[in-house]
Amino acid sequence: MPIAHRVSTFGTSIFAEMTLLANQHKAINLSQGFPDFDGPDDVKAAATAAIAAGQNQYALSNGQIDLRQAIAAHAHRFYGQAVNPDTEVTVTSGATEALFAAIIGLVNPGDEVILFEPFYDGYVPDVIMAGGAPRFVPLRAPDWRIDLDELATAFNNRTRAIVVNTPHNPTGKVYSRAELEAIAALCQKWNAVAISDEVYEHIIFDGAQHHRLAQLPGMAERTVTISSQGKTFSFTGWKIGWAIAPLDLTTGIRRAHQFITFAAATPMQAAAAYALGLDDEYYSTLAADYQRRRDYLVEALRRSGLEVGAPSGTYFIMGDISRFGFDDDVAFCRYLTAEIGVAAIPPSAFYSDEHKSLGKAYARFAFCKRMETLERAAERLSRLKR
Ligand SMILES: Cc1ncc(COP(=O)(O)O)c(C=O)c1O
Repeated sequence: MPIAHRVSTFGTSIFAEMTLLANQHKAINLSQGFPDFDGPDDVKAAATAAIAAGQNQYALSNGQIDLRQAIAAHAHRFYGQAVNPDTEVTVTSGATEALFAAIIGLVNPGDEVILFEPFYDGYVPDVIMAGGAPRFVPLRAPDWRIDLDELATAFNNRTRAIVVNTPHNPTGKVYSRAELEAIAALCQKWNAVAISDEVYEHIIFDGAQHHRLAQLPGMAERTVTISSQGKTFSFTGWKIGWAIAPLDLTTGIRRAHQFITFAAATPMQAAAAYALGLDDEYYSTLAADYQRRRDYLVEALRRSGLEVGAPSGTYFIMGDISRFGFDDDVAFCRYLTAEIGVAAIPPSAFYSDEHKSLGKAYARFAFCKRMETLERAAERLSRLKR
């Protein structure tokens, strides 16, 4: 039987393929972006306490009040952003669902949505399922800058939205205030919505600053800010995310969300509310620990012959593989997994067909792993040079 046209182009994700290959070759998996360690014990205890206390039935569709208040308090504490927890926050099953609900709830068939490349792999299917048309603007290596003329050309009177991801997976770029101002000016000129995916907001290095697009002048009324507890608290399997948006945009998001999942898992919402209230030291230690891991893997990759710029945020490193002489990133990553025993992601998967060649000189490595995992990976990577 045929499947629906709207999903017929999706295929299996590169993550599934690389994980299968990694398992077959018992490779150290630096491909998928999830920690090989758990988040804090007291956050786990908050989840089990919520289950024991009987918080086991459907949550409120928009999110439990405690969690919506905690999300608003977090926005105020870290960014001085005023958020109304009743009318401007929607709790979803991870940022994944927040992105889908925002796009399906705000984009009409035929609308264009601007996506930077390399993109997080959920954005394109979300736009296609909404009947929209993705419009691609590549970030330019080696420092992944935006070509502002190219961006300006992508906007037109069919542009409904732009998706911005800062800190950026897979490049580790943290968008500068000037870049966000340029994006904001174009959104206002063309009356477009900005969907700002900030799931790595607390994984940021070397004193870099994360700016919230919603807080730039003229952007509060047109920005959806998306985040989740997965990366910040190292529980990616819990899938609690949220969208912060003004009332009119929230209305679109909630109308979609009520029929996508209706509500996110109740006890995990209680634990996420607890986690968001952890003290400042938790957040600074998270970034410092990741910075140590970043420094370690950057050095190991450089010693192994890759050209690597240190990322300013996220837990990903893009390594330039061109000097190894492989046909492309897929061939390199297959070799690395099967022969060297370390799995990485070929980033051409994060480009449209039009710009795929831009990703072929790189491999993406995730360092959200225990130091001992990274040490074992470094040992194996040292064979690469030989
Ligand atoms: C940029 C980006 N957005 C969204 C997500 C999904 O977040 P969640 O696990 O909360 O659904 C990820 C996960 O890897 C991501 O890297």
